[in-house]
Amino acid sequence: MKEKKIALIPGDGIGPEVISEGVKVLKAIEQVDSNLSFEFTAYPWGCEYYLEHGKMMEENGLDQLKDADAIYLGAVGYPGVPDHISLWDLLLKIRKGFDQYVNLRPVTLLNPSLTPLKNKTEKEIDFLVIRENSEGEYAGAGDWLFKGKPEEVVLQTGVFSRKGTERIIRYAFEEARKQKKTLTSISKANALNYSMVFWDEVFDEVGKEYPDVVTYSYLVDAACMFFVQQPERFEIVVTTNLFGDILTDIGAAITGGMGLATGANINPEREFPSMFEPVHGSAPDISGKGLANPIAAIWSVAQMMDFFGEAKWSELIVTTIKELLKEKEYLTPDLGGNATTAELGNQFIKLLFEQDAITYKKNR
Ligand SMILES: NC(=O)c1ccc[n+]([C@@H]2O[C@H](COP(=O)([O-])OP(=O)(O)OC[C@H]3O[C@@H](n4cnc5c(N)ncnc54)[C@H](O)[C@@H]3O)[C@@H](O)[C@H]2O)c1
Repeated sequence: MKEKKIALIPGDGIGPEVISEGVKVLKAIEQVDSNLSFEFTAYPWGCEYYLEHGKMMEENGLDQLKDADAIYLGAVGYPGVPDHISLWDLLLKIRKGFDQYVNLRPVTLLNPSLTPLKNKTEKEIDFLVIRENSEGEYAGAGDWLFKGKPEEVVLQTGVFSRKGTERIIRYAFEEARKQKKTLTSISKANALNYSMVFWDEVFDEVGKEYPDVVTYSYLVDAACMFFVQQPERFEIVVTTNLFGDILTDIGAAITGGMGLATGANINPEREFPSMFEPVHGSAPDISGKGLANPIAAIWSVAQMMDFFGEAKWSELIVTTIKELLKEKEYLTPDLGGNATTAELGNQFIKLLFEQDAITYKKNR
């Protein structure tokens, strides 16, 4: 029996609404899989906590989280608390503190009706973006000089260490080799004449150790265009923190929107817990109305299962999402349905049990 400790940080806005649907999925899994059980600890951290206590999480927050097998996060950010505080004092604190330097964001079309792209099907939109998650443009390095004066200067430094660049590129090559897929690096060496020239050099250097992996390299502006025009070019993509952040929103747009985009923050050495979360934010415009689509949060559970080595559950969750997407009736308004967050979640559980029964029968 594998017992997994899950730290829940539902966060703000629609965060708690979608996380509770994901928790239903985890509870359903332990109900039918006698080899798995989950122990949940919930943390009340986020913007509300900040307004009450003047901080986004407890001082020793990372210490409290460090023994978890996984962190399951909803979203943080809410009007009244500056976004850079909610991001830096919770989300980035965890990503950095636990050296979750790999961000895995699948760009996979689960139903052809979801893409705004003409003539593109599931076959043409199916790739994985591996985003550097610990440094680059989000290192937090910089300065603010002569504040408020006419000569005011602001510096935001992109930090690219050899260790940080090499390890993400190597991770991507390993993944491409394992999955027997092509690997595309996305950078911008023509304009960013230090950091991105360095990135490209490291990509070439590490690539020499992987002669079996077919590689491509694009400038980020060209890559934006190809994401929309020819997404079939991509199988596995590796890119920097900022470019990955932006590109994966295009990825979300071509696969059904923010309600379907998931991301895993991985510490591959497993020295610290990894964190699983929907890509979307706290969506204050729809929170508290039961309108939030919980599919991204449910897909995060699939990524968590993959990380735990439970590929069967990961595949079953994604297959069940595909089944669910066939019927508009059980979808939330962002996908053209009328269902509430909880109604979608309940239908998902029903279908998951049905899919599990089918798989069980097939494998007998
Ligand atoms: N990982 C995170 O915690 C994270 C990520 C992005 C933004 N934020 C924060 O969230 C707040 C709102 O940011 P934003 O409006 O730019 O981005 P957002 O992702 O919260 O919302 C963007 C748009 O997408 C819609 N949307 C998002 N998720 C949805 C879902 N599950 N179902 C249906 N519709 C959904 C929203 O209604 C909104 O119209 C800000 O405070 C921001 O800093 C947090």
